[in-house]
This record gives sequence, C-alpha cells and structure tokens, in this order.
Amino acid sequence: DQLSIDPYELQRIRKVVIIGCGTSYHAGLVGRYLIEHLARIPVEVDVASEYRYRDPILDADTLVVGISQSGESLETITALRECVASVADGVLYTRAGPEISVASTKTHLAQVGALGMLAIYLGELKGVLYPDEASRRRQELIAMAELLRATLDRQSQWRAGIGDYLSREHFFFIGRNLLYPVAMEGALKMKELSYIAAEAYPAGELKHGPIAMLDEQAVVVALLGDDRLHEKMLGNIEEVRARGATILAVATDGDAGPDELADIVLRVPKSEALWSPLLMVLPLQVMAGWMAQARGYDLDKPRNLAKTVTVE
Ligand code: M6R
Repeated sequence: DQLSIDPYELQRIRKVVIIGCGTSYHAGLVGRYLIEHLARIPVEVDVASEYRYRDPILDADTLVVGISQSGESLETITALRECVASVADGVLYTRAGPEISVASTKTHLAQVGALGMLAIYLGELKGVLYPDEASRRRQELIAMAELLRATLDRQSQWRAGIGDYLSREHFFFIGRNLLYPVAMEGALKMKELSYIAAEAYPAGELKHGPIAMLDEQAVVVALLGDDRLHEKMLGNIEEVRARGATILAVATDGDAGPDELADIVLRVPKSEALWSPLLMVLPLQVMAGWMAQARGYDLDKPRNLAKTVTVE
C-alpha cells in the first residue's frame, strides 16, 4: 500500500534493474528470482559501485529498485541518481526496526520480504498472477514470519551439530537458483564476522575450477532446497564428498537426501521453495556469529567495517 508509484506506470514496466551493496545486493539477487518467476519481467542486478560506471541502458519502461538498509550508502544513492532525476519516485520501507550490529541480518530478511511483496504486486499488475493466486502468495509470505520464529528456536540443535567445526578456517558455500544468493550472503557473514576465507559458488560451477581447492581441510556448506534442483544438488554434494571435504548441509525437515552424504545436517522447516531463502539464511547468520564468538571477536563491531558506508 505504501508504494506511491502509479499502478498504470508499473503495468508498462518491461525491465527491472536492482542495485545495492553487500547484503542489500544479495537481497536483490533473491529478488531477481522472485520477480522473474512471479511477474515474468526480466531483471538485472548489479552492485551499485559497478552499475553507475557501466553506462547502463535504461528507458522509460525500466523500473530501477535501489535497496539500502541505511538509505545512506553513497554508491547506491549516486547510482540511483544516475537513473532518475530525484533519488526515487516511490519508497518501500522495510520496517525492520533499528539494527545495531554492523552485520545486516534482520534487515536482509525484511528486504527479501519486501521484494517478495513487490514481485507479487508486479505479477498481479502484469496479469501473470490471477488475483486469487496473488492473494495466496501474499498469505504464504505473511505466514513466513511465524516459520522464521520457529526456525530460530532451533539454534541449540544447530549448535550441537556444528560445535566441532567452529575453529575451521576455510569454508565454501554452495547453492543453486534462489539459494545461490543465500550462499553468497552466508559467505559474507562469515567473512565479515570471523575474518576467515569463505567463498560462495553456484553449485554447478564448482567443477569449472574451484573444486581444485577442495581437500580435507575445507568445509562445504551446501544449501539443499526442496525444489526441482534437489537431485542436481545432491550430485554436487557427492562431487565434494569425493574430494574429502567436510559437508555441512542445510536441508528441510524430512529430506533424507543428505543423510548419507553430509557430515552434519542443519534442518529448517519445509516451506514453499520460493520463500526458502528466508529460512535457509538463518542458520548461516547464526553460525557466522558463533564462529566470531568462538574466536573472541566483537559481534556487533567487526574490524575495518562501519554500519553505513558513505564514501566511494
Ligand atoms: O545500508 P545499506 O544496505 O545500503 O548497506 C549496504 C552494505 O554496506 C551492507 O549491506 C553490508 O554489506 C552489511 N552491513 C554486511 O552485513
């Protein structure tokens, strides 16, 4: 309801460009899948610091979405200014409340939620979703709040599973489709809080080079969705296992797929695959926090970082 852009103007949108930095950029990558799936509009996503120097191709039928927790990231604001005369024609407030820690966590969830709502709205305006489908999708998304609460209650279970691995130094995060940006976000949280090497790859890309780095020292965090790529993802986990790496799978309740393959399985509740990024990111956020605590680092104020980045 808060979006002040004329629905008729949004109806003629033929391309969406999403820009942001860091965690907000990762929310944008999830948003791409949501908008393309629910509204069938092509979406381009870029980091703000790159986008503004790319000589971007925009026209009146492009919707540019800038994502920012602080609303103050200089690069996001200047990139938006390149696109439109004023900074924005409309604003969707994420209303996540104040976030004290430098590491964005709840704001990321709120950004993905807002993009989900936007995707449903665009899908409805474009006639891709019938009103009853749009309303069902909205209800599903609203119901995720309760599932998120229930998922957070599993922290002691997760902690028991990963206790032995908190001191490891080399992590890879892999996922496919909607869960690839979640893998990127998991790696970012680990880097910024624990200062260790953590890299994210689309699972299918491992065999094109990065798999050479895997050995017994590596921990591979594999995000296993309950979706059409489930089998493919299991195949990727097998590839990793054959190289001797430790496998930490994040999977949904009742999925026996990773039982024989993974060293540890952290469970999240089942949900519609489309909204699973909201649940799958939680164990990654929490795990990054534990790793930092295990090393005696300040969780709220990681070194070299500021909550708001107002320089280029
Ligand atoms: O305030 P913004 O969302 O514009 O900030 C963008 C990034 O600096 C931010 O998301 C950063 O990556 C996170 N704090 C990392 O956890």
